[in-house]
Amino acid sequence: MIVNGVPAAESPAPGQCLRTYLRQQGWFGVKKGCDAGDCGACTVHVDGVPVHSCIYPAMRAVGHPVTTIEGLAADDGELHPVQQAFLDAQGFQCGFCTAGMVMTVAAMDDAQRAEPGRALKGNLCRCTGYQSVARALACAPPATAQAEEPEAPEPKAPEPKAPEPKAPEPKVAPPKAAPPKAAPPKAAGPVGASLPAPAGRRVVTGREPYTLDLALPGLAHMSLVRSPHAHAEIESVDTSAAMALPGVLAVFTHADAPDVLYSTARHEKVEDDPHDTVLLDRVVRFMGQRVAAVVAETLAAAEAGAALVKVSYRVLPAVFDPDLAMAAGAPLLHGDKTPGSGIARPRRNVAAEVHGDIGDVATGLARAAAVVSESFSIHRIQHAHLETHAAIGWLEGDRLVLRSSTQTPFLTRDAVSRLFGLPPGQVRVQAARVGGGFGGKQEMLTEDVVALAVLRLRRPVQLEFTREEQFAAATTRHPMRIAVQAGAAADGTLTALAIQTVANTGAYGNHSGGVLMHSCGEALALYRCPNKKVDGWSVYTNTVPAGAFRGYGLSQSAFAVESALDELARKLGLDPVEFRRRNVIRPGDPLISVSEEPEDVEVASYGLPECLDLVAETLASGRGEAAPPEPGWLTGTGMAVTMLDTVPPGGHYSHARIAERPGGGYTLWVGTPEFGNGTSTVHRQLAAQALGTGVDQIDLRQSDTDLVRHDTGAYGSTGTVVAGLATLRAAQKLADLRTAQPLADERAADPAHERKLLEAEATSDGTPRSVSFNVQGFRVAVRPATGEIRILQSVQAADAGTVINPGQCRGQVEGGVAQALGAALYEHVDIDAAGRVSTRTFRQYHLPQFADVPRTEVHFAVSRDPSGPLGAKPMSEAPFNPVAPALANAVRDATGRRLTDLPLTRDRVFAQLNKAGPVKNPDIDL
Ligand code: FES
Repeated sequence: MIVNGVPAAESPAPGQCLRTYLRQQGWFGVKKGCDAGDCGACTVHVDGVPVHSCIYPAMRAVGHPVTTIEGLAADDGELHPVQQAFLDAQGFQCGFCTAGMVMTVAAMDDAQRAEPGRALKGNLCRCTGYQSVARALACAPPATAQAEEPEAPEPKAPEPKAPEPKAPEPKVAPPKAAPPKAAPPKAAGPVGASLPAPAGRRVVTGREPYTLDLALPGLAHMSLVRSPHAHAEIESVDTSAAMALPGVLAVFTHADAPDVLYSTARHEKVEDDPHDTVLLDRVVRFMGQRVAAVVAETLAAAEAGAALVKVSYRVLPAVFDPDLAMAAGAPLLHGDKTPGSGIARPRRNVAAEVHGDIGDVATGLARAAAVVSESFSIHRIQHAHLETHAAIGWLEGDRLVLRSSTQTPFLTRDAVSRLFGLPPGQVRVQAARVGGGFGGKQEMLTEDVVALAVLRLRRPVQLEFTREEQFAAATTRHPMRIAVQAGAAADGTLTALAIQTVANTGAYGNHSGGVLMHSCGEALALYRCPNKKVDGWSVYTNTVPAGAFRGYGLSQSAFAVESALDELARKLGLDPVEFRRRNVIRPGDPLISVSEEPEDVEVASYGLPECLDLVAETLASGRGEAAPPEPGWLTGTGMAVTMLDTVPPGGHYSHARIAERPGGGYTLWVGTPEFGNGTSTVHRQLAAQALGTGVDQIDLRQSDTDLVRHDTGAYGSTGTVVAGLATLRAAQKLADLRTAQPLADERAADPAHERKLLEAEATSDGTPRSVSFNVQGFRVAVRPATGEIRILQSVQAADAGTVINPGQCRGQVEGGVAQALGAALYEHVDIDAAGRVSTRTFRQYHLPQFADVPRTEVHFAVSRDPSGPLGAKPMSEAPFNPVAPALANAVRDATGRRLTDLPLTRDRVFAQLNKAGPVKNPDIDL
């Protein structure tokens, strides 16, 4: 086979797919996202035609020219026009989908370019919401103007198998889209400019190495045996047949695992999560739980070995519904655990609970002119980052090194150290660029078992989740049922607000307490009200565990509370925007959600009124799409507000170092990883700003436990706010040192003068904490007769404080809205009556495709927060939260009917809209 003009060293193995073969040959630009031809991350050209190489037999490509992303640029390094367009438009975030996306677009003709939705149907992106991809398409030259791809390229030198993450600094691309209506004031210097990601050129050429883009000599592969039962005790495991298979090196079972309880959740304080998990347990509590790990010379041998492991189970009764699980006499999932494990009530399957009140809700409701009492159900969804969970481990001397797709390298190092009784210095965890996280990688799902195998076998071992495992055995958003009671006086002043939440945490309590607290907290703290009450339970069931998910519980509570308050405003005849203006928190107010004691958060900056105005004005502007002309469509508008603490409670710490380089410029070391959140761009901007230089002078090294003392991790949008503040402080210190000591140009004037290169370090602890705000608005058309919803206009206004990189921040908002629209409209992880996750592929899951996502107008309020670096606030996870309630409120406005159950798929919308009889519609007779 000739790949990118290079004769391949080996022939494909029988039955091997083209993607696996190409990666085996070192063409790591070909990504693995699904194994089913759904996601397009593996797209390559065969005979100039784009194919999904994961479902293309490698043998069929023999004798035909194959081009991967690495072969698309000219030999002299000049980018293909489509690569250049993606680079100029910054048409990516994590970039894991980008190589495949570029390959598909590069093969499109002008007619396809004009209707890209059809040709890009097979290329999924989870991060961008496709808006920056659309901008890349808009700035790519017409296909007819591009040079034709050569049919038989000249042989050239093979690419290195493990490319180093190093490339020339990309040029600064001008922003390709109109600036936001209310742009924050521009600071002099790099902060406030839409500078491109430093990895951009490597991303669009497929040379940015992700976790598994590493050719390690002697690498062994792991496959996991998973439970076929929702609840069972393991009686025996027979590994003999597996061990007899050629290539199998070891089979690890509960007999080999450390008998240590821990949580897969990663938090600064380990006591924040119940310790209910064992690396390989004798009891399985959900269908898909790890039972054994088979390690072999090849992945095929490991998978074959896993199929030969014979496990005898004693099946136990299971419970899948959280209400039933809390009832007396229900099967207990963790009845064997002691109080020291941190489980709230193991004898009632309650992993965590929260209760609190202020004032008297009953009195508040009695005094109200209008009351709303409604229950809402919020479903299970998946992060669906295109890079699945993965880790490689090896030994350097006696030191364990883990290269992992994680948002928390330092906390993972600490957890592995504790688990195996190793000093933290004997474990090193590093993260390459992470292919999407959304909270899913604030979890330890691969590193522990890889560490076990490496320590026992003393050779490199790799584990990569399949997409099916990702659905069946990784974490999900917590499904919740939330009852809301709200009352207000005739003038709209809130008199009572109470919520009762039952969250399904699944078989393990990772993040159960944090998600519940966060969910109940900010949704209520957003509103001034003298009478509030919260009761919440996070409940064990024999289902796949839930965990951290973008919004961390707020998307669920926001759907309930913002829907109920919208209903209350309508009952009182008040405009929902005006109702919010009267009741939202103001600067100086204590933030109170569940107890009289104010929380350690303050409203230190306040762009919320401006956000409300921006959304109201935009919805009234007449912009957006017209309603469908056919009869039977009803139109309406809706909005919702959410608030997010700028830093998670309970401690978040970062350390940063910066030093002058011998040849000029600076090296900056930080711990926070890059997973599409843009920290690698923002940190360079902050450092350059403080040092009065350009970003091209800052060489960033990140996400490795050997680089800095500590970093809690990139979650809760802390990559900018906490780690960024440590970077800014270190750079400011260095700038002060440079001022105090002879400068480089003085040295040049006196060659005899020698000065030691300067360096500085700093920390940030994430305090004081403040809040940021998001307001989402929609205008929709709804067809009650079919349950269809069409989005005619979408707008989000965000109070992000100083916007360090407007282009990038806008991308976070666009991507967050798109992900939330998928969650609200189509996505759902289903679990059957036996407890099995029946959603196993992207094809079943319906991730939003290019053509599904409407354009969202993005606006930023002008604000500046004293707690964040140069006034910045977080804006990565927050844009997700207000989307579903704003959509439901718009449907309510259009139809007069309240949708209380997510997702809003057509069948469910039809059922919900018509359960009280046909919707009154002037145009159609039902
Ligand atoms: Fe497309 Fe992350 S940038 S999946």
